[in-house]
Amino acid sequence: MTVRVRKAVFPVAGLGTRFLPATKVVAKEMLPIVDRPLIQYAVDEAVEAGCDTLIFVTNRYKHAVADYFDKAYELEHKLETAGKGELLELVRNVVPAHVRTIFVTQPEALGLGHAVLCAQPVVGDEPFAVILPDDLIWNRNGRGALGQMVDHVAAHGGSAIAVENVSADKTGSYGIVDVEQFDHQVGRIRSIVEKPRPEEAPSTLAVVGRYVLEAQIFEHLHNTRPGAGGEIQLTDAIARLLQDSPVNAYKFSGTRFDCGSHLGFVEATIRFALDNEKLSDSAAAAMQKALDELAASAH
Ligand code: G1P
Repeated sequence: MTVRVRKAVFPVAGLGTRFLPATKVVAKEMLPIVDRPLIQYAVDEAVEAGCDTLIFVTNRYKHAVADYFDKAYELEHKLETAGKGELLELVRNVVPAHVRTIFVTQPEALGLGHAVLCAQPVVGDEPFAVILPDDLIWNRNGRGALGQMVDHVAAHGGSAIAVENVSADKTGSYGIVDVEQFDHQVGRIRSIVEKPRPEEAPSTLAVVGRYVLEAQIFEHLHNTRPGAGGEIQLTDAIARLLQDSPVNAYKFSGTRFDCGSHLGFVEATIRFALDNEKLSDSAAAAMQKALDELAASAH
């Protein structure tokens, strides 16, 4: 069996309320970790996984993501005449030439499931990926998380959802899965529920924002009524999909940062700064200095 996953959907219509007031003007996907916006990390991961069609589900007020991937003629011209070749390459290569970007509007903020459904006319009848750019996954020297999942689906078919263990008090922030049993990194999902209270959660295995889904998910999304938080939940459609087709939980290799939260965003910034060739020594020294000064001022 060889299944090819060519299309990746990026739901980017959210308001980013957790990062207000910054997100009053700047789309949350454009917030940078060191020098690159969150959306760039997500796009790089999709391209590395082999996707060549990137579908952004946005809303009619949010143009930043489309602008970011558009050609910047004036800027490119200025960099070119100034002989700034390295910067020019950076600006030109936000997406490689063989990759196309498509923008779809989500007319109303009805939830993640609804956002994915808005991409149906572009995805059509083939398996596809969903990436939530808030979840930044760092796998320093290995294949990206989506690439690992795509490889699994290419060989075995079905759908795959990234999971990782969270502490019991955090189940209310995630989709939570119950898995039959794991064979290495993969286990068939028996049930999935959106944001259960700890006492109702079937496990502490949480869904992370990477999915490879069969196209049948769209039929289920069409029939999904508002669930947790009054929103049309992708999780609820997956709960139906797994009744007639295998859906596997995938424990990816890599570290995931929840960049939708302040702490996760700061953690990602620290990690990427410490791992940056030009910055690492001075970033480490700056962190030490900050810790020392805070400790001294506490006395
Ligand atoms: C969404 C999904 C949830 C998943 C999470 C991962 O929730 O609905 O199942 O666990 O992403 O980040 P959100 O973070 O949009 O509330």
